[in-house]
Amino acid sequence: TPRIFSGIQPSGGLTLGNYLGALKRFAALQGAGAETIYCIVDLHAITVWQQPEILRARIREAAAAFMAAGVDPAQSILFNQSQVSAHAEMAWLFNTVARVGWMYRMTQFKDKAGKNSENASLGLLAYPALMAADILTYQATAVPVGEDQKQHLELTRDIAAKFNHDYGVTHFPITEPLIEGVATRVMSLRDGSRKMSKSDPSDASRINLTDDADAIAQKIRKARTDAEPLPDRIEDLKDRPEARNLVNIYAALADETPGSVLARFEGQGFGAFKPALAELAVASLSPITRKMAEYMADPAEIDRILGEGAARADAVAQPILNRTKDVMGLLRSK
Ligand code: TYM
Repeated sequence: TPRIFSGIQPSGGLTLGNYLGALKRFAALQGAGAETIYCIVDLHAITVWQQPEILRARIREAAAAFMAAGVDPAQSILFNQSQVSAHAEMAWLFNTVARVGWMYRMTQFKDKAGKNSENASLGLLAYPALMAADILTYQATAVPVGEDQKQHLELTRDIAAKFNHDYGVTHFPITEPLIEGVATRVMSLRDGSRKMSKSDPSDASRINLTDDADAIAQKIRKARTDAEPLPDRIEDLKDRPEARNLVNIYAALADETPGSVLARFEGQGFGAFKPALAELAVASLSPITRKMAEYMADPAEIDRILGEGAARADAVAQPILNRTKDVMGLLRSK
């Protein structure tokens, strides 16, 4: 059976981009003959400094978001990265396999480190080796992510291939990225050339999973668009990134193709489309927001679920970590 792994950073409030590009797909992949393992990657989050109390709350909030979006801890393994020590151990092993040059080439490192990259944390540079460790510690074969993680997944494949080659084994699988559907890159509501992101300074640029119905409707009403009517084919929105983004969001929320959305709205302007999108977004997201609040009202229960998930993840990870140590000539402790 295929084994699916993916993760989300608890480094800020989650957005509609995280929901459509990741969480909604995570839920859909459950029970379809695959084993699904989902992780809140707190060790990745601390590659940039996090206020400890806020981080603790965001880890629990991320767990609540996974479950509210339909990830069922009985069907999937849902856990928090730092609670399974194999991730950090495997990451060290991969630090000896990956090359420094590979890390400097990562666009996310360049973006996050900014101009003064000498002052970035060493963890921020090594981030993709930890991500490879997340995936390969479970020998996962498929990883559902949004478009922005593509380069990191290529590096995961490079690490697996170099490890296998250097040690003359076929120990690690060459993982397939699952970058599928119409919402693999949800764009900002203010600027169709930028990704919707939890770190965008403008709150109006994104829909947060904690936004109430009024906030969602208002952000969609104010979303940047153009004055043209909608065409009947998505290809005709090639040069209208804001319009294309809203149509794709509609399609992803409604589980339709952009073509079938356009068939209904063809010839109409945003005066008609936006209220329909706002209504759909509120109807789809408010049950999630409500469930998130319910889960968050009981942090002890979240901690219990994450503890159980960590024990199950550990049971899968430890034997693979131990075999990896064997291959490398290290002595195993258990
Ligand atoms: P992160 O936390 O930035 O994002 C989590 C997931 O949400 C997707 N995503 C989006 N999808 C569509 N449109 C958007 N605007 C959008 N914004 C975010 C991301 O592509 C991602 O799938 N490095 C990863 C976390 C990670 C991971 C892993 C993922 C750590 N280890 C192992 C997979 C496997 C990250 O920072 O995602």
